[in-house]
Amino acid sequence: MPGKMAVIFGASTILWIVFAASAQAFKIQTSPESRTLAQIGDTVSLTCSTTDCESPSFSWRTQIDSPLSAKVRNEGTRSTLIMDPVSFENEHSYLCTATCKSGKLEKGIQVEIYSFPKDPEIQLSGPVEVGKPVTVKCLAPDIYPFDRLEMDLLKGTHLMKNQEFLEDMEKKSVETKILEATFTPVLEDVGQILVCRARLHLQEMDSVPKERETIKELQVYISPQNTVVSVHPSPRLQEGDSVTMTCSSEGLPAPKVVWSKKLDNGNLQLLSGNATLTLIAMRIEDSGVYVCEGVNLVGRDKKEVELIVQVAPRDTDILVSPSPILEEGSPVNLTCLSHGFPAPQILWSRQLITGELQRISDNTTLTLTSTKMEDSGIYVCEGINQAGISKKTVELIIQASPKDMQLTAFPSESVKEGDTVIISCTCGNVPKTWIILKKKAETGDIVLKSIDGAYTIRKAQLEDAGVYECESKTQVGSQLRSLILDVKGRENDKGYFPPELLVLCCASSLIIPAVGMIIYFARRANMKGSYSLAAAQKSKV
Ligand SMILES: *[C@@H]1O[C@H](CO)[C@@H](O)[C@H](O)[C@H]1NC(C)=O
Ligand SMILES: *[C@@H]1O[C@H](CO)[C@@H](O)[C@H](O)[C@H]1NC(C)=O
Ligand SMILES: *[C@@H]1O[C@H](CO)[C@@H](O)[C@H](O)[C@H]1NC(C)=O
Repeated sequence: MPGKMAVIFGASTILWIVFAASAQAFKIQTSPESRTLAQIGDTVSLTCSTTDCESPSFSWRTQIDSPLSAKVRNEGTRSTLIMDPVSFENEHSYLCTATCKSGKLEKGIQVEIYSFPKDPEIQLSGPVEVGKPVTVKCLAPDIYPFDRLEMDLLKGTHLMKNQEFLEDMEKKSVETKILEATFTPVLEDVGQILVCRARLHLQEMDSVPKERETIKELQVYISPQNTVVSVHPSPRLQEGDSVTMTCSSEGLPAPKVVWSKKLDNGNLQLLSGNATLTLIAMRIEDSGVYVCEGVNLVGRDKKEVELIVQVAPRDTDILVSPSPILEEGSPVNLTCLSHGFPAPQILWSRQLITGELQRISDNTTLTLTSTKMEDSGIYVCEGINQAGISKKTVELIIQASPKDMQLTAFPSESVKEGDTVIISCTCGNVPKTWIILKKKAETGDIVLKSIDGAYTIRKAQLEDAGVYECESKTQVGSQLRSLILDVKGRENDKGYFPPELLVLCCASSLIIPAVGMIIYFARRANMKGSYSLAAAQKSKV
């Protein structure tokens, strides 16, 4: 304890003075007078000298008879005790004894030890970033006696922390003492200083405290923020265009700006370390996400911008499955393909008679599960994106396949010369206008002017006898019927039928000649195409 030490020291000084005063014959002096303060590691000399004594002899000892830990040099009337270097072992009261003829004198010098070799050191827990708490440590290294230490930590003139290290010293040793303070930097701290001050109060020995201080200028950082990108002329571009992108980011120190492009795998490909990035002759593959990053020592902040290099839709094509000509009731898929960037949107429409387009679907594939005749018409596919439109049309023809066709002669297929005969053809599901009525002739078929599938022979002549044929043909199917009209002459009962017509009849109806002959001789043949032929064959066999 400092107090206790001072008391012992004070008492012993008085003792030496009393003792010295008893010897009158010669005098003893010391330098320093009675005490000295020495720093560990320094060199200290204690000098003892006499006056009024021819050849004194000197001896040095410590008050409690511990080793001197010093060298003695005697020169005439003076003796020097040299401590080099000063260590803890030198913290004693040293006693110089001078012996002369007339007697013996003693004088003591108290050696006080301290250690305060270096300026304190300022350490920061990390970069001083605005808004982020930071801890400042002030270290006073190798201090002795550290129970006399006082430390201050200041920011500018503001005292953040003060501490006196009034702890017990269990053993003599030097220690590093630390003062710690935490603060949250603000913008105003830019340019501010941190001061760490250490004071060793060596009290009565030395009225002015030993003081050391260290100043550190605060390097305040601001993490990059407010990163902004401007794109000129626009992030939407046409193939071949150029674009200039400028990036800025705020922070302290001013962030460095870096441009990259985001790859498909998410990695960044570095493009430039310049704030301005110019891309020329853009192509579709240059479309993508570009990233500007502001970077400084304490952080980074990024901004993304998507560039789209547009390409007008082109090569628009329509795939028709199974075919653009269909039988009523069958399904059809119309698939539209269009190329461009961004991928064109598909729009299906139907062209009305007026020429207007009626929107029907925006699916790629337009499906008609069961087509009707009225679905016939022109279908338009448009591939649309921001860069334009590309069109393609397809005509869908939906027809019925003729069915249930009937060819009849009224009143009969065997008439008399001069009678009126009506040859009539009907087909259930095909418009009458699609029916063709013909008469077979050696010179070729004669198309008859029928009205609604009916042809009237007024006053039948012998030449009107022959093979009559009715055909209905659409793009998806056809049906054919024939009949033989027999006209009997008035004079005799013999009919007229030129045999060569049989060949025509049979060839056109795909009836083998042998069967045809049978029918001819039966004279009652009613040929109704292949179906009827099968029936006829059955009846005759
Ligand atoms: C950055 O851009 C400026 C102006 O366009 C140019 O002068 C400079 O050379 C560029 N620096 C780098 C590193 O590309
Ligand atoms: C139409 O497309 C659907 C779906 O792909 C398919 O199941 C169907 O068989 C297609 N129909 C035709 C007639 O191609
Ligand atoms: C478009 O496709 C969806 C699903 O494939 C289907 O549900 C919808 O009916 C289709 N729209 C048209 C108009 O075909």
